[in-house]
Amino acid sequence: MAYNVLLFADPGIDDSFAIMYALLNPKINVVGIVSGYGNTPKEQSVRNTAYLIDLGGREDIPIIAGTAGPLSGEPVQFYPEIHGPEGLGPIKPPDTLQNVEVHDFNKILEIVEQYKNNLIIVNVGRLTEIALMFILYGNNALKDVIAFYIMGGAFLVPGNITAEAEANFYSDPIAARSVMEKAHNVYLYPLNVTNKAIITPEMIGFLSENSPTPFRPLLQPAFDYYFKAYQKNVPGIKGAPMHDVVPLMAITNPEIFRYVPRRVKVEEFGDAKGKSIADFRPKPEAQPPKTLDYIGMEADIQKFVENFMEVFLQGELEKK
Ligand code: BDR
Ligand code: CA
Repeated sequence: MAYNVLLFADPGIDDSFAIMYALLNPKINVVGIVSGYGNTPKEQSVRNTAYLIDLGGREDIPIIAGTAGPLSGEPVQFYPEIHGPEGLGPIKPPDTLQNVEVHDFNKILEIVEQYKNNLIIVNVGRLTEIALMFILYGNNALKDVIAFYIMGGAFLVPGNITAEAEANFYSDPIAARSVMEKAHNVYLYPLNVTNKAIITPEMIGFLSENSPTPFRPLLQPAFDYYFKAYQKNVPGIKGAPMHDVVPLMAITNPEIFRYVPRRVKVEEFGDAKGKSIADFRPKPEAQPPKTLDYIGMEADIQKFVENFMEVFLQGELEKK
């Protein structure tokens, strides 16, 4: 049996690895990909998703155009120095958009209805689209989703955009706060876990020789660009963190992760904008159980690497 996943991603290099991973993992059935602004502008993000879907021969997967900016209306900052001018490192994706239909936002509701009580939402980009679902369709709009697996935040470690804040939460902190408040059954993968999900150049070298998948030619150039950016920002780092692969792997390989249940809040304004907050005191303030989120605190990185390699080496791209 495969898990039905509606993926929200802003490719982006680690997002692209996440999309490829999701398409290749036999236990994941991708039922739609929502792509909006984030690492790159919305149009680019949609184009990159279309390219990956086309490469994988999975044009049956609906692509949904997400948002162009945060709820605050503030100008957006993109990150070409990390993800490349078009979001795929040095790769200039061919225009494969003409092969696929790009759906409007209301397609999300249709998918949620279609997979009622049998759908997991995975969000590895800004939280704007999910927050907008609650604004457009009400706080119960996503009640039939089983769980939300989200990459965002940073607990007890520094941020990656400011000293306090991680990129997905920082870029739309109003949305992040609202989603943490309104979504249920949230599994969160913050930097304190995803920073350790390191894939090395040697591993990618091996995959780019041996992966039987149609994604093989992309792996090395995309990774190299991303790794170089990380080497600049984190001197001595041995590889690059695949942040966005983590929540997907957590669905199919739950034994790899350990969680602490706490209520998560997000700072919306000021110097600590985008900071994720939870009560980690030995005796935290009691919270109603329904408001607790499962915060990823530890991961077995050796198992993470093994599963990553296994999935990219098997090349299963059929509809599950
Ligand atoms: C997150 O921000 C983005 O740059 C990455 O794709 C990831 O989703 C890491 O902070
Ligand atoms: Ca991302």
